[in-house]
Amino acid sequence: MGDEAVTEDAYLRIAHLTKEYDDETGKRQILKDFSLNVKKNEFLCILGSSGCGKTTLLRCIAGFENHTGEIYINGKLKKSPGDDTIMVFQTFDQLFPWKTVEKNIGDPLKLKGIKDKEQRRQMISEALKKVRLSGYENYYPHQLSGGMKQRVAIAKALALKPHLILMDEPFAALDALTRREIQNEMLDIVAQEDCTILFVTHNIQEALILGTRSVILSHSGKIIFDEINHLPKPATPNIPGWGEEWEKMRDAIYMREENKTDDISAGG
Ligand SMILES: Nc1ncnc2c1ncn2[C@@H]1O[C@H](COP(=O)(O)OP(=O)(O)OP(=O)(O)O)[C@@H](O)[C@H]1O
Ligand SMILES: [Mg+2]
Repeated sequence: MGDEAVTEDAYLRIAHLTKEYDDETGKRQILKDFSLNVKKNEFLCILGSSGCGKTTLLRCIAGFENHTGEIYINGKLKKSPGDDTIMVFQTFDQLFPWKTVEKNIGDPLKLKGIKDKEQRRQMISEALKKVRLSGYENYYPHQLSGGMKQRVAIAKALALKPHLILMDEPFAALDALTRREIQNEMLDIVAQEDCTILFVTHNIQEALILGTRSVILSHSGKIIFDEINHLPKPATPNIPGWGEEWEKMRDAIYMREENKTDDISAGG
């Protein structure tokens, strides 16, 4: 289980991560002693029931949360947020509503130190082209559909050329057709980009279409399934092997829900 993906040369290395939240009942531990290695250019899909700690995990990796244990990105200990790691969220309101598409994408570039306006314009235009939104530079978020807003959020992330993109159910609120379209765009994008992606989804099909590896977490945040996705891209439900892969993942999720157990944990 997953040994192929766990190597010393991991691009992202999470070792013994534990996150504690304070609530009325006192301190509550999420992701206790969680370890995971991710290789460069892997597209890792993370599945698991609501509340098991998926968003918390991404937030820790992005540097937004205090935690114990270590997170190394490209060998460097991650201590605070930085433009090496970008997060894309599920909600359609992650863009600034008072800024145009161009400013939403361009301002973080300015913050990153790209002072030349023409260079920024070029980078914005390139990023918009990748998500098929060329020509929408002067639109405001309220003038865009949900799918278009998610595309802009992805373009914003891509423009910064991060090496690690953390995506938290980015397509969950889209209708099935738009979701399929944007998944195809994602496949084209990752084929061209030099980046590692962690992608949280509740959808097995989405994980099989997009991922190169899938990890399933138990209700208490332990890894109970960790396998390389060997299906050729683009993967569709009618290709050989799809049904078996889908069932394996469904069984892992079903077993987790039925037994609420971590006994089959594979660790990181
Ligand atoms: N700011 C917070 N303060 C206290 N507890 C929190 C906070 N954020 C998350 N939690 C708790 O941490 C646990 C994990 O939450 P998290 O959002 O990571 O789950 P998730 O796996 O992303 O769930 P979902 O699939 O519903 O998005 C939950 O029990 C949640 O109540
Ligand atoms: Mg979440």
